[in-house]
Amino acid sequence: MNILAVESSCDETAVAVVADGRRVLADEIFSQVALHEIYGGVVPEIAARSHLEVVSLLADRALRTAGVTRADIDAVACTYAPGLIGAVLVGVNFAKSAALALGVPLIPVHHIRGHIAANYLAFPELEPPFLCLAISGGNTMLVDVRGYTDMSVLGRTRDDAAGECFDKSARVLGLGYPGGKPIDDLSKQGDDGAYELPRPAVNDGNPYDMSFSGLKTAVVNIVHHAQQTGAAVDKAGLAASLCRAVSETLVIRTMDAAQKLGYERVAAAGGVAANSRIRADFQAACEKAGKTLYVPPLRLCGDNAAMIGAQGYYEYLAGHTAGPDLNAYATMEL
Ligand code: KG4
Repeated sequence: MNILAVESSCDETAVAVVADGRRVLADEIFSQVALHEIYGGVVPEIAARSHLEVVSLLADRALRTAGVTRADIDAVACTYAPGLIGAVLVGVNFAKSAALALGVPLIPVHHIRGHIAANYLAFPELEPPFLCLAISGGNTMLVDVRGYTDMSVLGRTRDDAAGECFDKSARVLGLGYPGGKPIDDLSKQGDDGAYELPRPAVNDGNPYDMSFSGLKTAVVNIVHHAQQTGAAVDKAGLAASLCRAVSETLVIRTMDAAQKLGYERVAAAGGVAANSRIRADFQAACEKAGKTLYVPPLRLCGDNAAMIGAQGYYEYLAGHTAGPDLNAYATMEL
């Protein structure tokens, strides 16, 4: 079954063709980073307009790359939540029109379910159940993946996402947007013990909930204090200390949950799963605990449409299709 998949929830327009949920025939991505860079973050209006300009061109290109025609497409899938509402709406409306024109089913896909499904593309042998830490620019959640479409959130951030913590820290350090990768790169030259940063704790109730706003504020305060007193900031040391603090927070909770719930397979997904410290710490923790780790290659960690095509296939098998009244949503439970 060939699925034409569309992703437009934030600042990447992406269209893919995926066969049977596992085989990527085409995976086209147009990154808007250059459009938003000057503003230091994503401007929702600009994002939506840019999606509109390129989405149909990308779809044509995806069909050409895949070596298929419109007649070979069996269904159209799209991210319908969560995301920047204007941006998601563009993808949803394009997908609706395409499904209607081609006379094929329309499949709505939750963006975070898509991130989790990136692992199915990278690891053909992986099947639920497994535990997955989904870490992106707007979401941080620990997910109990019992089945392809049967999952629940065990814990989540109470405030900022891990990606937000990296992005805001990078901004105050003058490292640009998006800030996760520059912080990751810089951290490799720094001492991860250079700064004592808080390990954000949530002590009331759910042991798997997290918090990152205190960590973000700690980094901002270190930099502002140095600016006010004329002291130098050890940027590489701060970047390394931040990566360590975020990684320890995430890895401890995930491994705790894997142990308590008896999961042998642990996965990570989302843009922040590209972080080299987090990947290395997870690998070491899983080896120590005798568990198998699944983390997609870097290209499949960030936003892409192939992951939407992968999850779309399983949503279709579960009967989750939509009509032309499908709406887009800024927020949506998993
Ligand atoms: O999954 P994604 O591409 O978009 C969302 O769905 O949000 O994630 C984007 C986030 C940004 O916050 C970006 O700074 C972060 O992923 N990111 C990283 C790295 N690469 C991207 N964070 C830490 N280390 C990285 N290497």
